[in-house]
Order: sequence, then C-alpha cells, then structure tokens
Amino acid sequence: MTISGSKNAALPLMAAALLADGPVTINNVPILNDIFTFNKVIAETGAKVSYDKEEQKLTIDPTSMDNYVAPYDLVRKMRASFYMTGALLGAAGHARVSLPGGCAWGPRPVNLHLEGFRAFGAEIEMDGGYVIARAPNDRLPGGSFTMSPSSVGATVNLVLAAVRAKGRSVIRNAAMEPDVVNLCENLNTLGARISGAGTPVITIEGTDSIRAGTISNTPDRIETGTFMIAAAMLPGSDVTLKNTLESDLGSFTDTFRKLQTGLEITGDTIRVRAADRIPPVSIETAIYPGFPTDLQAQWATMMTLAGGKSTVTDHIYPDRFSYVPELVRLGADLERRDNIVVIRGRSQLKGASVMSTDLRASVSLVMAGLAAQGETEVLRVYHLDRGYERLENKLNAVGARIRRIAE
Ligand code: UD1
Repeated sequence: MTISGSKNAALPLMAAALLADGPVTINNVPILNDIFTFNKVIAETGAKVSYDKEEQKLTIDPTSMDNYVAPYDLVRKMRASFYMTGALLGAAGHARVSLPGGCAWGPRPVNLHLEGFRAFGAEIEMDGGYVIARAPNDRLPGGSFTMSPSSVGATVNLVLAAVRAKGRSVIRNAAMEPDVVNLCENLNTLGARISGAGTPVITIEGTDSIRAGTISNTPDRIETGTFMIAAAMLPGSDVTLKNTLESDLGSFTDTFRKLQTGLEITGDTIRVRAADRIPPVSIETAIYPGFPTDLQAQWATMMTLAGGKSTVTDHIYPDRFSYVPELVRLGADLERRDNIVVIRGRSQLKGASVMSTDLRASVSLVMAGLAAQGETEVLRVYHLDRGYERLENKLNAVGARIRRIAE
C-alpha cells in the first residue's frame, strides 16, 4: 500500500506558491477534497491553478492574482484556508480573509495568528466576520513573536507573512511539526532565508523575491500512522506501507512498539503484522514529537480490542471525542471524562450504522467496522474524503471488504 502525499503539509505549500514571482509546481499532492477546496480558495484570487491528478502535480501561477480575498463560503469548509491571510499579506501586503469559525470539536481560535501578524507590523481589523490585514506600504517590517501554546497553523501563517518582509522576523515557541519543516525547507529552495525550522525558534530574514520552481510534498505521517494502527488491530494482517518517512512519526513509533506487533522499518517502507493479542497501552497527545492528536481516535478504536483497560488523553483538543458514542453503538466499552477516554478492552464489536463526525473519527469508524462482526454502515463519509485518498481501495487491496454506496 502506498502512502499518499501529506494533506496537512500540502496546504501550506500551496499557500506558499502565492509568494513566488512565477509558477510553482508542487509534487506529490494527494487527490483529496481539502486540496480541491484550497484550489478554489486560491483561484478566487485570480491565481491560476492546474492540477495533474495522474502525476499528482499541482501548479500554481500567482502572477495573475488581483483579488486578495478568501470568502466565508470556502473558509468555513476548511479552516486551513486561513493560511491565505499570511500568504496574501506576504505577497501583496493586504488580505481580506473570512474568520473560520468553530469546528466539530471545539472553538479552535486564531488569536495567535492575529497577534503574530500584529507583532510583525500588520494592522488588523475585523469587518463583518472578515479579518482585514494590512502591511504599512504593502510590506511588513517583520518583528518578533512568542506563541503560547505552540500552534502549527499560526507558525505556518507567520512564516508565510514574514518570508517577503523587509526585515527579520523571529517566532519563538514555534511549532516543530514536520509540516512546518517541510514548508520552510521548500521555501528555502525557492530563495527564502529561514533558519531554525524544527526547533522552537524560527528566524526568517525577509527577502525581495521568491523564485518560481518545483517543490516537493512529504508523505502523510497521519495516513501512515492510521494504517499502522489498522494493520496492528485487524487479525491476520501483514501490510507493507511504501513511500513513508519514519522520521516524521516522532515518538509515535516508540509507542507503537509497545504493542509488540511485528514492525519492520526499512528505508521508506514500514511493514506491520497484526498483534496476536493487543496489550492495553495508554497515550496522551502532545505537540510534535509527541503522540499526534490526529491519531488518538484511531488508537482509542484499537484499544477497544485490547486485553485490558487503557486511557486516551487529548491535551491539544480536549473536545475531540465525537467518535466515542459511535464506537459505543458498535459495542465498544468506553467512556469520556473531560479530555480523557477510559477504554475497557476485550470488546467484541458488532456491525451497526454509525455517523462520521470529522475526518479522524470517520476513519476510526471504518477501522472499527472492519474489526466488527457483520456489516457496518458509516454515514457522512465526505469527512473521510477530505483527508484520505481512496481509503476503500487502499484497504480492499490488503483484504478489507468495503463498498462505497453512492448517495
Ligand atoms: C493542525 C492540523 C490538525 C492537527 C493540529 C494539531 C492542519 C490543516 N491541521 O491544526 O490536523 O490536529 O494541527 O497537530 O494542518 N490555538 C490557540 N490559538 C490559535 C491557534 C491555536 O489557542 O490562534 C490552540 C488550539 O486551540 C490548540 C493548539 O493551539 O489547542 C494547537 O492547535 P494548532 O496547532 O493551531 O492546530 P491547527 O494548525 O489548527
């Protein structure tokens, strides 16, 4: 099974393309609804977007950009559209971008993004649900900002805003996630001057121009982790994942080893064989390199089958547990207490109809359905298509039986 390009790393690269003096081609861009949504957001500015799905190459030509707006209609569909604020501020010195609003698992504020833009010299106003950001004389001077907590989205947005600033910008307590590192490394190949990506302090020396060129997206670490968990929990599996980047998994690999499954990592392939018995292993999410919040629902799903009691604690998004009542519908024994899910294992799951509530919840329900006796129907799979490329084809190729029923 081949791991696709990362969704969360592709979106910042797409926004970064708007900073360039000419067309930028991005390799390894997955065919996902979130990518299509962001293509629309970018096209709204007048930039030209062409997507070769066969080759998974996306080319963005910002030279025709003449509308520095990201409308509510699109931003509400995908929060990452808020990256347009940093990109447009960096590219043109002004932006009008809808505030994203809440999401399925809580308020998800953008205060750090806005405070950071201000610290870099932008003027920020609110108007009718929109953020209006302006740089003095259309170019940010740059500045210094310490964020707390460390936010992936705010770090990306601030890097985008600062790359073409007049002076130096510093982000302290910056996110260290691979998505940030990938963005900074790719921008540097196009002439940006960013140092410290992957550490808590990122320094950006402003530059007059970002070159046109070709950049590359990284493999999806969350898809990799999802399939590792699926292979570990489904009896009899023996799955080889290709095009992976193990170093991006952070401490997840060490936690995964506690399952005592067969795990072999060779170059860019990861082979996982099902555990004979799944031991209870409790996890707590943390910023990179800690256990990713984007894998906690899948882990909790696996733990419903473990030989004992475990807990899953989310410190990043304390409300991200909408999957719990759905797993209960499948016969799992788990209960949420604040930001902790207590899971009593040894469940024999039984098929039922369940409802997807968000991207990671929906893949977890598919995984639970595969482990369950009988048929499981997962509704609202549009959540799944936001972030997993042809999930049913990939899983069916390794022995699953999943049908997509047209609505
Ligand atoms: C990104 C990922 C998402 C992942 C999350 C955490 C994308 C498109 N999405 O989301 O899949 O679950 O990182 O790894 O890449 N916060 C504030 N104020 C802000 C911004 C964030 O308080 O202005 C808080 C959040 O509420 C949260 C924490 O910071 O508790 C981390 O959130 P953040 O890293 O910003 O997540 P996203 O970038 O939105």
